[in-house]
Amino acid sequence: MNRTIRTTEDVLTLLDGLFPPAEPFWDRFYADRSAGRPFFAPKPDENLAHYLDRGLLAPGRALDLGCGNGRNAIHLASLGFEVDAVDLSATAIAWAEERAREAGLGLDTGTGTGTGTGTGTGTGTGPRFHRASIFEAELPHTRYDLVYDSGCLHHLPPHRRVSYLALLDRVLAPGGHFAVTAFAAGATGSERPDEELYRLGALEGGLAYSPDELRSLFRGFTPLEIRPMAAQDPDSALFGVPFLLTALFQRTVSLRPAAHP
Ligand SMILES: C[S@@+](CC[C@H](N)C(=O)[O-])C[C@H]1O[C@@H](n2cnc3c(N)ncnc32)[C@H](O)[C@@H]1O
Repeated sequence: MNRTIRTTEDVLTLLDGLFPPAEPFWDRFYADRSAGRPFFAPKPDENLAHYLDRGLLAPGRALDLGCGNGRNAIHLASLGFEVDAVDLSATAIAWAEERAREAGLGLDTGTGTGTGTGTGTGTGTGPRFHRASIFEAELPHTRYDLVYDSGCLHHLPPHRRVSYLALLDRVLAPGGHFAVTAFAAGATGSERPDEELYRLGALEGGLAYSPDELRSLFRGFTPLEIRPMAAQDPDSALFGVPFLLTALFQRTVSLRPAAHP
């Protein structure tokens, strides 16, 4: 059959096919733990730690998009957040579950689709890990107080921003926070215009975003802080590299009265 496009999702899926698939890249990436990538270390992002320290975020339900080996999800769970964490890579999810156990956090495997090998020996409740695309994960909640993304957005092809905004719209509670770290334009990442990426058929290792581009992309939300990530010393308890941009947004509480049938 040649005439396959009928829905918007069909168009998005067709466009996905113009780029190399995300897997098995990430599985291989996380399989080599000795590679010593800075974000392999079990440390939370410095910006996330500072939002928490400054009381900008309070424990509630959190969703970590593209959680990798779980370093931010585990930090949030250790502070009392109820966390769902999603990643495409089975290798990354298995590592995240291992880390949660090592941190003494029991794994809630009830509704997640992770490897489900957690024995839950700790006293705190660990994140629920889901091995899935962020666009397809079956989440136990419909609303989250915090949606956190460290380094996932910049690996998505441009058309998937449409799906990403729809996801935020679906899962972020009114008044809830959304925070993202992404390659900083001028520091790293591809600065080609979106259209050129389709002609090239490559994301060139990830897309760079400027503060204005993040502000424009997430213009439905109130920007609270947009700044470069603060570089951290290797012995710091926090993760921080200067080539990432960090941004914190809040979803406006709607003042519109609820519609009556
Ligand atoms: C640069 S890593 C960051 C991992 C983690 N957030 C951290 O900061 O340590 C990007 C992650 O996004 C995941 N990812 C990319 N596209 C995804 C998608 N569509 N759905 C779920 N995860 C995705 C990859 O598997 C990878 O683990």
